[in-house]
Amino acid sequence: AAMEKGEYRHFMLKEIFEQPTVVAQTLGSYLRQSDRSVALPQLDVDLGEINRVTIVACGTSYYAGLVAKYWFEQFARLPVDIDVASEFRYRDPVLEPGGLALFISQSGETADTLAALRHCKENGQTIGAVVNVPTSTMAREADVLLPTHAGPEIGVASTKAFTCQLAVLAALAAHMAVKRGRLSRAQEEEIVEHLLETPASLNAALDHDDDIAAMAPLIAPARDVLYLGRGQDYPLAMEGALKLKEISYIHAEGYASGEMKHGPIALIDENVPVIVIAPSGPLFEKTVSNMQEVSARGGKIVLISDAEGIAEAGEGCMATIEMPHVHPLIAPLVYAVPVQLLAYHVAVAKGTDVDQPRNLAKSVTVE
Ligand code: G6P
Repeated sequence: AAMEKGEYRHFMLKEIFEQPTVVAQTLGSYLRQSDRSVALPQLDVDLGEINRVTIVACGTSYYAGLVAKYWFEQFARLPVDIDVASEFRYRDPVLEPGGLALFISQSGETADTLAALRHCKENGQTIGAVVNVPTSTMAREADVLLPTHAGPEIGVASTKAFTCQLAVLAALAAHMAVKRGRLSRAQEEEIVEHLLETPASLNAALDHDDDIAAMAPLIAPARDVLYLGRGQDYPLAMEGALKLKEISYIHAEGYASGEMKHGPIALIDENVPVIVIAPSGPLFEKTVSNMQEVSARGGKIVLISDAEGIAEAGEGCMATIEMPHVHPLIAPLVYAVPVQLLAYHVAVAKGTDVDQPRNLAKSVTVE
Protein backbone atom coordinates (compact mmCIF):
# COMPACT_ATOMS: atom_id res chain seq x y z
CA ALA A 1 0.00 0.00 0.00
CA ALA A 2 2.92 2.31 0.78
CA MET A 3 4.01 1.96 -2.87
CA GLU A 4 0.75 3.20 -4.40
CA LYS A 5 -0.08 6.74 -5.35
CA GLY A 6 -3.70 6.46 -4.27
CA GLU A 7 -5.61 9.67 -4.92
CA TYR A 8 -2.42 11.55 -5.84
CA ARG A 9 -1.24 12.24 -9.36
CA HIS A 10 2.43 11.70 -8.51
CA PHE A 11 4.43 10.04 -5.76
CA MET A 12 6.11 13.36 -5.09
CA LEU A 13 2.80 15.03 -4.23
CA LYS A 14 1.76 12.08 -2.08
CA GLU A 15 5.07 12.23 -0.23
CA ILE A 16 4.76 15.99 0.30
CA PHE A 17 1.34 15.42 1.88
CA GLU A 18 2.62 12.57 4.06
CA GLN A 19 4.95 14.93 5.89
CA PRO A 20 2.74 15.75 8.91
CA THR A 21 2.37 12.02 9.57
CA VAL A 22 5.94 10.89 9.00
CA VAL A 23 7.49 13.86 10.79
CA ALA A 24 5.22 13.11 13.76
CA GLN A 25 6.32 9.44 13.61
CA THR A 26 9.96 10.44 13.49
CA LEU A 27 9.68 12.99 16.29
CA GLY A 28 7.75 10.44 18.32
CA SER A 29 10.81 8.23 18.52
CA TYR A 30 13.09 11.05 19.72
CA LEU A 31 10.85 13.05 22.06
CA ARG A 32 8.96 12.00 25.16
CA GLN A 33 5.54 13.65 25.37
CA SER A 34 4.91 12.85 29.05
CA ASP A 35 7.71 15.00 30.50
CA ARG A 36 8.51 16.96 27.32
CA SER A 37 12.09 15.77 27.10
CA VAL A 38 14.41 14.70 24.33
CA ALA A 39 14.82 10.93 24.55
CA LEU A 40 17.18 9.52 21.98
CA PRO A 41 17.18 5.76 21.41
CA GLN A 42 19.58 3.88 23.72
CA LEU A 43 23.10 4.77 22.56
CA ASP A 44 26.38 3.02 23.34
CA VAL A 45 28.19 6.31 22.89
CA ASP A 46 28.22 9.23 25.35
CA LEU A 47 27.46 12.20 23.15
CA GLY A 48 28.34 14.50 26.06
CA GLU A 49 32.02 13.77 25.31
CA ILE A 50 31.77 15.11 21.76
CA ASN A 51 33.59 18.40 21.18
CA ARG A 52 33.18 18.84 17.43
CA VAL A 53 30.79 17.77 14.67
CA THR A 54 31.57 17.04 11.03
CA ILE A 55 28.58 16.69 8.71
CA VAL A 56 28.84 15.04 5.31
CA ALA A 57 26.07 14.35 2.78
CA CYS A 58 24.94 14.88 -0.83
CA GLY A 59 22.06 16.70 -2.50
CA THR A 60 18.99 17.42 -0.41
CA SER A 61 20.49 15.57 2.56
CA TYR A 62 23.41 18.02 2.46
CA TYR A 63 20.99 20.94 2.79
CA ALA A 64 19.43 19.29 5.84
CA GLY A 65 22.96 19.18 7.25
CA LEU A 66 23.49 22.87 6.49
CA VAL A 67 20.35 23.76 8.48
CA ALA A 68 21.52 21.54 11.34
CA LYS A 69 24.86 23.36 11.49
CA TYR A 70 22.96 26.42 12.75
CA TRP A 71 21.25 24.32 15.42
CA PHE A 72 24.38 22.54 16.71
CA GLU A 73 26.17 25.86 16.94
CA GLN A 74 23.32 27.88 18.39
CA PHE A 75 21.91 25.40 20.91
CA ALA A 76 24.81 23.09 21.74
CA ARG A 77 27.64 25.58 21.06
CA LEU A 78 29.45 22.84 19.15
CA PRO A 79 31.70 23.81 16.24
CA VAL A 80 30.50 22.25 12.99
CA ASP A 81 32.37 21.52 9.78
CA ILE A 82 30.24 20.52 6.81
CA ASP A 83 30.94 19.46 3.26
CA VAL A 84 29.45 17.66 0.30
CA ALA A 85 30.66 14.07 0.31
CA SER A 86 32.31 14.24 -3.12
CA GLU A 87 34.68 16.97 -1.89
CA PHE A 88 35.18 15.95 1.72
CA ARG A 89 37.94 13.30 1.61
CA TYR A 90 40.02 15.03 -1.00
CA ARG A 91 40.73 18.09 1.10
CA ASP A 92 42.22 15.88 3.82
CA PRO A 93 40.00 17.35 6.56
CA VAL A 94 41.38 17.72 10.08
CA LEU A 95 39.72 15.00 12.17
CA GLU A 96 40.66 15.16 15.84
CA PRO A 97 39.73 12.89 18.76
CA GLY A 98 36.34 13.67 20.28
CA GLY A 99 34.74 14.32 16.90
CA LEU A 100 31.32 13.10 15.85
CA ALA A 101 31.07 12.60 12.09
CA LEU A 102 27.46 12.69 10.99
CA PHE A 103 26.32 11.23 7.67
CA ILE A 104 22.88 12.13 6.38
CA SER A 105 21.35 9.98 3.67
CA GLN A 106 17.88 8.91 2.66
CA SER A 107 19.10 5.71 0.98
CA GLY A 108 22.09 5.00 3.22
CA GLU A 109 23.90 3.86 0.06
CA THR A 110 25.18 7.00 -1.71
CA ALA A 111 28.72 6.06 -2.77
CA ASP A 112 30.46 9.35 -1.94
CA THR A 113 28.80 9.59 1.48
CA LEU A 114 29.69 5.98 2.28
CA ALA A 115 33.33 6.53 1.28
CA ALA A 116 33.44 9.61 3.53
CA LEU A 117 31.96 7.57 6.40
CA ARG A 118 34.71 4.94 6.04
CA HIS A 119 37.36 7.65 5.87
CA CYS A 120 36.12 9.15 9.14
CA LYS A 121 35.99 5.73 10.78
CA GLU A 122 39.62 5.12 9.84
CA ASN A 123 40.42 8.49 11.36
CA GLY A 124 38.95 7.76 14.78
CA GLN A 125 35.66 9.65 14.55
CA THR A 126 32.47 8.49 16.23
CA ILE A 127 30.18 7.69 13.32
CA GLY A 128 26.56 8.86 13.40
CA ALA A 129 24.15 8.12 10.56
CA VAL A 130 20.78 9.75 9.91
CA VAL A 131 19.30 7.33 7.38
CA ASN A 132 15.86 6.39 6.14
CA VAL A 133 16.62 2.81 5.12
CA PRO A 134 17.39 0.93 8.34
CA THR A 135 18.94 -2.05 6.52
CA SER A 136 21.32 0.12 4.47
CA THR A 137 25.11 -0.05 4.48
CA MET A 138 25.47 3.26 6.33
CA ALA A 139 23.00 2.12 8.99
CA ARG A 140 25.09 -1.03 9.55
CA GLU A 141 28.44 0.74 9.66
CA ALA A 142 27.46 3.56 12.02
CA ASP A 143 28.24 3.63 15.76
CA VAL A 144 25.13 5.71 16.38
CA LEU A 145 22.13 5.01 14.16
CA LEU A 146 19.54 7.79 14.07
CA PRO A 147 16.76 6.57 11.78
CA THR A 148 14.23 8.77 10.04
CA HIS A 149 10.79 7.17 9.81
CA ALA A 150 9.69 8.66 6.49
CA GLY A 151 8.77 5.27 4.97
CA PRO A 152 9.78 4.41 1.39
CA GLU A 153 10.41 7.51 -0.73
CA ILE A 154 9.70 6.85 -4.40
CA GLY A 155 9.87 10.31 -6.02
CA VAL A 156 13.43 10.96 -7.17
CA ALA A 157 13.30 14.49 -5.75
CA SER A 158 13.51 14.06 -1.98
CA THR A 159 10.77 15.69 0.12
CA LYS A 160 9.54 13.80 3.18
CA ALA A 161 13.00 12.33 3.84
CA PHE A 162 14.31 15.91 4.08
CA THR A 163 11.84 17.11 6.71
CA CYS A 164 12.30 13.89 8.70
CA GLN A 165 16.07 14.43 8.60
CA LEU A 166 15.52 17.94 9.96
CA ALA A 167 13.30 16.51 12.72
CA VAL A 168 16.02 14.06 13.82
CA LEU A 169 18.74 16.69 13.60
CA ALA A 170 16.74 19.18 15.68
CA ALA A 171 16.20 16.52 18.36
CA LEU A 172 19.88 15.56 18.24
CA ALA A 173 21.01 19.19 18.56
CA ALA A 174 18.70 19.63 21.55
CA HIS A 175 20.00 16.39 23.09
CA MET A 176 23.64 17.50 22.69
CA ALA A 177 22.73 20.89 24.16
CA VAL A 178 21.23 19.19 27.22
CA LYS A 179 24.27 16.88 27.54
CA ARG A 180 26.59 19.87 27.40
CA GLY A 181 24.63 21.79 30.01
CA ARG A 182 23.56 24.42 27.50
CA LEU A 183 19.83 23.98 28.02
CA SER A 184 17.99 24.14 31.30
CA ARG A 185 15.19 21.68 31.93
CA ALA A 186 12.67 24.47 31.26
CA GLN A 187 14.33 25.35 27.95
CA GLU A 188 14.38 21.69 26.94
CA GLU A 189 10.64 21.45 27.65
CA GLU A 190 10.01 24.56 25.60
CA ILE A 191 11.97 23.24 22.61
CA VAL A 192 10.21 19.88 22.78
CA GLU A 193 6.85 21.64 22.90
CA HIS A 194 7.70 23.60 19.76
CA LEU A 195 8.88 20.47 17.99
CA LEU A 196 5.65 18.72 18.88
CA GLU A 197 3.73 21.55 17.16
CA THR A 198 5.48 20.80 13.85
CA PRO A 199 2.91 18.38 12.35
CA ALA A 200 0.08 20.90 12.87
CA SER A 201 2.16 23.65 11.29
CA LEU A 202 3.02 21.37 8.36
CA ASN A 203 -0.71 20.84 7.84
CA ALA A 204 -1.28 24.60 7.86
CA ALA A 205 1.45 24.96 5.24
CA LEU A 206 -0.13 22.23 3.09
CA ASP A 207 -3.42 24.15 3.10
CA HIS A 208 -1.79 26.50 0.58
CA ASP A 209 -1.50 23.82 -2.09
CA ASP A 210 -4.22 25.38 -4.26
CA ASP A 211 -2.78 28.91 -4.03
CA ILE A 212 0.63 27.63 -4.98
CA ALA A 213 -0.79 25.64 -7.90
CA ALA A 214 -2.51 28.83 -9.04
CA MET A 215 0.75 30.81 -9.08
CA ALA A 216 2.82 28.11 -10.84
CA PRO A 217 1.98 29.51 -14.32
CA LEU A 218 3.73 32.74 -13.28
CA ILE A 219 7.00 30.85 -12.72
CA ALA A 220 6.77 28.18 -15.42
CA PRO A 221 7.82 30.43 -18.37
CA ALA A 222 10.97 31.66 -16.59
CA ARG A 223 14.43 30.63 -17.76
CA ASP A 224 16.08 31.49 -14.45
CA VAL A 225 14.73 31.72 -10.91
CA LEU A 226 16.55 33.06 -7.87
CA TYR A 227 15.83 31.89 -4.31
CA LEU A 228 16.93 34.05 -1.38
CA GLY A 229 17.15 33.26 2.33
CA ARG A 230 19.11 34.32 5.39
CA GLY A 231 20.48 32.36 8.33
CA GLN A 232 18.95 28.91 8.64
CA ASP A 233 16.63 29.75 5.73
CA TYR A 234 19.57 30.18 3.37
CA PRO A 235 20.01 26.39 3.01
CA LEU A 236 16.29 26.25 2.30
CA ALA A 237 16.77 28.70 -0.56
CA MET A 238 19.36 26.31 -2.00
CA GLU A 239 17.02 23.36 -1.47
CA GLY A 240 14.21 25.27 -3.23
CA ALA A 241 16.47 25.97 -6.20
CA LEU A 242 17.59 22.33 -6.31
CA LYS A 243 13.99 21.05 -6.29
CA LEU A 244 12.99 23.42 -9.10
CA LYS A 245 15.91 22.54 -11.35
CA GLU A 246 15.57 18.80 -10.67
CA ILE A 247 11.98 18.46 -11.77
CA SER A 248 11.10 21.49 -13.91
CA TYR A 249 14.52 21.92 -15.62
CA ILE A 250 14.43 25.66 -14.97
CA HIS A 251 17.81 27.06 -14.01
CA ALA A 252 17.63 28.17 -10.40
CA GLU A 253 20.08 29.40 -7.80
CA GLY A 254 19.80 29.66 -4.05
CA TYR A 255 21.65 32.61 -2.59
CA ALA A 256 22.16 34.22 0.78
CA SER A 257 19.93 37.31 0.64
CA GLY A 258 22.73 39.68 1.58
CA GLU A 259 25.14 38.20 -0.96
CA MET A 260 22.83 38.90 -3.91
CA LYS A 261 24.32 42.36 -4.39
CA HIS A 262 27.72 40.72 -5.02
CA GLY A 263 26.65 39.06 -8.23
CA PRO A 264 23.19 37.70 -8.93
CA ILE A 265 21.64 41.17 -8.81
CA ALA A 266 23.12 41.62 -12.29
CA LEU A 267 20.62 39.02 -13.54
CA ILE A 268 17.53 40.68 -12.12
CA ASP A 269 14.92 41.95 -14.53
CA GLU A 270 11.20 41.36 -15.07
CA ASN A 271 11.92 37.87 -16.43
CA VAL A 272 13.69 36.50 -13.35
CA PRO A 273 11.27 35.60 -10.55
CA VAL A 274 12.81 35.88 -7.08
CA ILE A 275 11.49 33.60 -4.35
CA VAL A 276 12.18 35.08 -0.92
CA ILE A 277 12.02 32.71 2.07
CA ALA A 278 11.79 34.95 5.12
CA PRO A 279 9.86 34.34 8.32
CA SER A 280 9.47 37.52 10.41
CA GLY A 281 12.15 37.97 13.04
CA PRO A 282 15.40 39.78 13.76
CA LEU A 283 16.79 39.22 10.25
CA PHE A 284 13.64 40.30 8.44
CA GLU A 285 14.46 44.01 8.09
CA LYS A 286 17.67 43.21 6.27
CA THR A 287 15.81 40.93 3.89
CA VAL A 288 13.26 43.67 3.20
CA SER A 289 16.03 45.92 1.94
CA ASN A 290 17.27 43.09 -0.31
CA MET A 291 13.72 42.82 -1.66
CA GLN A 292 13.73 46.54 -2.41
CA GLU A 293 16.94 46.05 -4.40
CA VAL A 294 15.09 43.44 -6.47
CA SER A 295 11.93 45.55 -6.97
CA ALA A 296 13.94 48.60 -7.99
CA ARG A 297 15.25 46.54 -10.94
CA GLY A 298 11.84 45.36 -12.02
CA GLY A 299 12.28 41.93 -10.42
CA LYS A 300 9.12 40.00 -9.51
CA ILE A 301 9.04 38.65 -5.98
CA VAL A 302 7.22 35.72 -4.42
CA LEU A 303 7.42 36.26 -0.67
CA ILE A 304 7.05 33.24 1.59
CA SER A 305 6.59 34.57 5.12
CA ASP A 306 4.15 34.70 8.02
CA ALA A 307 1.31 37.23 8.50
CA GLU A 308 3.66 39.75 10.18
CA GLY A 309 6.21 39.52 7.37
CA ILE A 310 3.59 39.77 4.64
CA ALA A 311 1.93 42.77 6.33
CA GLU A 312 5.29 44.50 6.39
CA ALA A 313 6.72 43.60 3.00
CA GLY A 314 4.05 41.86 0.92
CA GLU A 315 2.93 44.96 -0.95
CA GLY A 316 4.31 45.13 -4.45
CA CYS A 317 5.15 41.42 -4.53
CA MET A 318 3.99 39.35 -7.50
CA ALA A 319 2.62 36.82 -5.00
CA THR A 320 2.80 35.94 -1.32
CA ILE A 321 2.46 32.60 0.47
CA GLU A 322 1.48 32.88 4.11
CA MET A 323 2.95 30.41 6.55
CA PRO A 324 1.78 30.00 10.15
CA HIS A 325 3.84 31.90 12.71
CA VAL A 326 6.30 29.32 14.06
CA HIS A 327 9.28 29.07 16.38
CA PRO A 328 12.56 29.60 14.46
CA LEU A 329 13.64 26.02 15.25
CA ILE A 330 10.80 24.51 13.26
CA ALA A 331 10.63 27.16 10.52
CA PRO A 332 12.91 25.22 8.12
CA LEU A 333 10.59 22.20 8.31
CA VAL A 334 7.45 24.26 7.73
CA TYR A 335 8.92 26.47 4.99
CA ALA A 336 10.15 23.37 3.15
CA VAL A 337 6.51 22.64 2.24
CA PRO A 338 5.75 25.69 0.02
CA VAL A 339 9.17 25.36 -1.58
CA GLN A 340 8.43 21.71 -2.50
CA LEU A 341 4.89 22.49 -3.68
CA LEU A 342 6.08 25.37 -5.85
CA ALA A 343 8.65 23.17 -7.61
CA TYR A 344 6.03 20.44 -7.99
CA HIS A 345 3.34 22.64 -9.52
CA VAL A 346 5.77 24.41 -11.86
CA ALA A 347 6.93 21.00 -13.11
CA VAL A 348 3.32 19.89 -13.61
CA ALA A 349 2.61 23.14 -15.48
CA LYS A 350 5.57 22.39 -17.75
CA GLY A 351 4.51 18.77 -18.22
CA THR A 352 7.78 17.16 -17.13
CA ASP A 353 8.09 13.67 -15.65
CA VAL A 354 7.89 14.69 -11.99
CA ASP A 355 8.66 11.34 -10.36
CA GLN A 356 11.37 10.29 -12.82
CA PRO A 357 13.19 13.44 -13.95
CA ARG A 358 15.66 13.04 -16.79
CA ASN A 359 19.30 12.22 -15.98
CA LEU A 360 18.68 11.79 -12.24
CA ALA A 361 18.74 8.67 -10.07
CA LYS A 362 17.11 8.09 -6.71
CA SER A 363 20.24 6.60 -5.26
CA VAL A 364 23.69 7.34 -6.67
CA THR A 365 26.02 4.41 -6.06
CA VAL A 366 28.95 5.61 -8.18
CA GLU A 367 31.55 8.18 -7.06
C1 G6P B 1 20.28 11.79 -5.43
C2 G6P B 1 18.79 12.05 -5.28
C3 G6P B 1 18.56 13.21 -4.31
C4 G6P B 1 19.26 12.93 -2.98
C5 G6P B 1 20.76 12.62 -3.19
C6 G6P B 1 21.39 12.10 -1.91
O1 G6P B 1 20.87 12.86 -6.09
O2 G6P B 1 18.21 12.33 -6.53
O3 G6P B 1 17.17 13.37 -4.08
O4 G6P B 1 19.13 14.05 -2.15
O5 G6P B 1 20.92 11.60 -4.17
O6 G6P B 1 20.83 10.84 -1.61
P1 G6P B 1 20.83 10.20 -0.19
O7 G6P B 1 20.13 8.87 -0.36
O8 G6P B 1 22.27 10.00 0.23
O9 G6P B 1 20.12 11.10 0.73
